[in-house]
Amino acid sequence: MNCLSPSILAADFSQLGDQIRIIDEAGAQYVHIDVMDGMFVPSISYGMPVIKCIRPCTERVFDAHLMIEDPDRYIDEFVKVGADIITVHAEACKHLDRTIEAIKEKGVLAGVAINPATPVSQILPILHKVNMVLIMSVNPGFGGQKMIPYTIEKVRELKKIIDEKGYEVDIEVDGGITLENVEQFLAAGANIIVAGSSVFNGDIEENVKCFLDKLNA
Ligand code: DX5
Ligand code: ZN
Repeated sequence: MNCLSPSILAADFSQLGDQIRIIDEAGAQYVHIDVMDGMFVPSISYGMPVIKCIRPCTERVFDAHLMIEDPDRYIDEFVKVGADIITVHAEACKHLDRTIEAIKEKGVLAGVAINPATPVSQILPILHKVNMVLIMSVNPGFGGQKMIPYTIEKVRELKKIIDEKGYEVDIEVDGGITLENVEQFLAAGANIIVAGSSVFNGDIEENVKCFLDKLNA
């Protein structure tokens, strides 16, 4: 099934609860939560207190994208505040296998993310252990960037491997996804689509519906 995961990094934080209710009611299945630590990526975004605060606003899947160094330190806390999927960056984990195991031990879904310049081959040894692979389509750290076209080919490469192996692993794409380019990612094999600025800029409800039309076509 194809799912939309609007990135609340692009939301108006003064109306965060209301905007989450809008995406929920418009049919978005996930809520994408970008956590940045100012080390792995240049920016600092928000953390556990915010996630805890918005958890009662929706029952949709909380899709936590941790752009933080050594995320093992905080897995417990992210589970406690209500994350349903925890995605860590392969580049930020010294012992990726251990980190993935630690996430799964907590009873939540585990995802692994790779930056545009990180090859798909890097995560193949743990592919059978994860529920989702996040292929970054921009360099992580900021919303509103332009999609990097060669990442579409990485999605295609990963999808082929997953199908050949017979694994059940979702492919998420994140960064610079718009109504104009989303079909290319869907055709390549992505099934979880993150969109920040193209959902929250303008009419949020209408934007979600337009994305869902493409995801369900
Ligand atoms: C980038 C974040 C993305 C970002 C997406 O570091 O991981 O989730 O917020 O925003 P847009 O869709 O505006 O690129
Ligand atoms: Zn993200």
